[in-house]
Amino acid sequence: MIYPIVMYGDAVLRKRAADIEKGTDLAQLIADMFETMHEANGIGLAAPQIGKSIRLFIVDGTTLEDEPDLKDFKKAFINPQIIDEQGEEWEFEEGCLSIPNIREEVWRKETVRIKYFDENWNAFEEEFDGMKARIIQHEYDHIEGKLFIDYLSPLKKRMLKGKLANISKGDVDTEYRIAAPLKK
Ligand code: NI
Repeated sequence: MIYPIVMYGDAVLRKRAADIEKGTDLAQLIADMFETMHEANGIGLAAPQIGKSIRLFIVDGTTLEDEPDLKDFKKAFINPQIIDEQGEEWEFEEGCLSIPNIREEVWRKETVRIKYFDENWNAFEEEFDGMKARIIQHEYDHIEGKLFIDYLSPLKKRMLKGKLANISKGDVDTEYRIAAPLKK
């Protein structure tokens, strides 16, 4: 099942998402999230972006031809917990399926150490760096109620105000189905 993607302005994107009870069968939901993300050509999707305030996100960088590093990077992260972030900050132009057609430079640390469960409730603790770390940091922010535009300067934010207001109203061009909070 393909879910509509929740747009900027919806309160669900601003909530700290809840832990998932251990052992919950998430197979269908995770399959649906992958389908939804692929349909929208995304490389990451967090549960709040389909209206579910739970601590789950998925990543899939395997289709990015110019990122050979990500060729095996397809995973679900359940009840993740970032333990540590290290290294120098580097900037990269990020986008978000919930904030279509806006891309801005965001600074993030180089490596991330994270604990999480996979879809079979196996526990992992791993370190990721570079683009993998960045995707994880971006998606992890979603389950903390944070968005990449929060990192921008006040001036940049002011410049985006009109576009963001339009996104909240659903007044934005996308090739995927959206759910906008202020759509009339
Ligand atoms: Ni995002």
